[in-house]
Amino acid sequence: MKFTRIVSIITTLLIALSCCKIEKTSSSVPYTIKDGMIRFEVPQRAQGQKSLLGFKTAPMEKVRVGFVGLGMRGPGAVERFTYIEGVEINALCDLYPDRVASAQQILTSKGLPEAASYSGEEGWKELCAREDIDLVYICTPWQNHVEIAVGAMKNGKHVAIEVPAATSLKECWDLVNTAERMQVHCTILENCVYDFFELTALNMAQKGLFGEVLHVEGAYIHNLEPFWDEYQGNWRLDFNQKHRGDVYATHGFGPVCQVLDIHRGDRLDYLVAMDTKSVNGKALVKAKMGKDECANADHTITLIRTANGKMIEIQHNVMTPRPYNRLYQITGTEGFANKYPISGFTFKPENIDSDDVPDHENLNSHRFIPEDAKEALMKKYMHPIHKEVGEIAKKVGGHGGMDFVMDYRLVYCLRNGLPLDMDVYDAAEWSCVGELGAISMFHNSMPVEYPDFTRGEWNKIDGFDFAK
Ligand SMILES: NC(=O)c1ccc[n+]([C@@H]2O[C@H](COP(=O)([O-])OP(=O)(O)OC[C@H]3O[C@@H](n4cnc5c(N)ncnc54)[C@H](O)[C@@H]3O)[C@@H](O)[C@H]2O)c1
Repeated sequence: MKFTRIVSIITTLLIALSCCKIEKTSSSVPYTIKDGMIRFEVPQRAQGQKSLLGFKTAPMEKVRVGFVGLGMRGPGAVERFTYIEGVEINALCDLYPDRVASAQQILTSKGLPEAASYSGEEGWKELCAREDIDLVYICTPWQNHVEIAVGAMKNGKHVAIEVPAATSLKECWDLVNTAERMQVHCTILENCVYDFFELTALNMAQKGLFGEVLHVEGAYIHNLEPFWDEYQGNWRLDFNQKHRGDVYATHGFGPVCQVLDIHRGDRLDYLVAMDTKSVNGKALVKAKMGKDECANADHTITLIRTANGKMIEIQHNVMTPRPYNRLYQITGTEGFANKYPISGFTFKPENIDSDDVPDHENLNSHRFIPEDAKEALMKKYMHPIHKEVGEIAKKVGGHGGMDFVMDYRLVYCLRNGLPLDMDVYDAAEWSCVGELGAISMFHNSMPVEYPDFTRGEWNKIDGFDFAK
């Protein structure tokens, strides 16, 4: 064989190999790169596993709950549950017995019986083995959400997991596979989908006020400076120090995924992500942990394209001084909604400025509708869920009421044998974005294919809705 022919064969082989190579990075699931895109294999459903799309269980007269994790977040959940009818709080668990004891006081101060107490690293295992628990409510550090949730589901319990439900793609599949095998609910406790502006704007979007929604934005921009010392064992900074990507995406991501009917007619197709260098984060980990590097950026942006040609932008910044901001922005063919920093709506000029002569120098001509018109719209399109529990939610509180609405809906759906508002596929889709983004960044913002946790069933449900 001629030398040039041999060179040509070797070159072809090398190109073929480089188009489809296994990468060795720290990703939790192996991936290949093909046609300029990072791709994951979607694992087959194991025998006995069944889809949980639209999953419901027999109505429960009482929902018997056990809480795990009673730090800054957990006790508020215990308190909120005392206001919900049809609930029994049967067990409380934290690493530290004194945190369990103070949560018991929430119950006794309301004349409720004490719950069983568990503490230590593995106390949750005993809690999950109890016969009198239907739902395990998990408010622990991110690092042990999935271990506890999988353990609880293996005991046949339904689980509700604080955000993000999981920290990696592998953990997301663990949640999906265990829930499908055990045929139990696995929901994510994403409270922001129930906030007043978000739920009203979702209702308006579903009624077509924005036309076809093309682009949405969400964020978690919250300077956590006052909180870093409060997380038990420094778990949050420890996680950020080790992980790149949008590690706390769901407050911004969840609400806009509902607007776009994700896995109810549309599907997250692929993402690209980019971040800044770490400056404040790096200084913080040096000061608090004595480490020289911080993997997580001061500011991260992730862009996701859906199968139906929509675009989602999410941002994460917990490091620089900025006003709190979850963005929540909807751009449609007929209108626009924006929550932060100024909440308002915009519609086509002819719909709001009928008396104005068009003036191309007036940069305000495409402004938000007037405040009174906004208020009228907010009232007109108030979501039925807010009509039902909005007032009591504001009284009970929890981030202005949305936390109560979330807990109320969880119990309502279980007691009425309805599908939960957020299913295990939402939990996985919203939680894996951190690791997917990190992989994109590792490859200079290369596109990463979004795994389809429904395994091809994303188009079976016609639009997102809350079960009634
Ligand atoms: N949805 C929201 O608005 C919101 C707000 C705050 C926090 N969170 C989420 O809530 C979770 C907890 O956050 P936090 O701010 O309360 O943190 P935290 O550090 O204050 O509390 C975590 C608690 O879990 C306990 N814990 C740790 N390991 C445990 C184990 N093995 N068994 C039992 N308990 C264990 C700790 O002792 C601690 O009391 C996180 O997932 C966080 O992201 C959500």
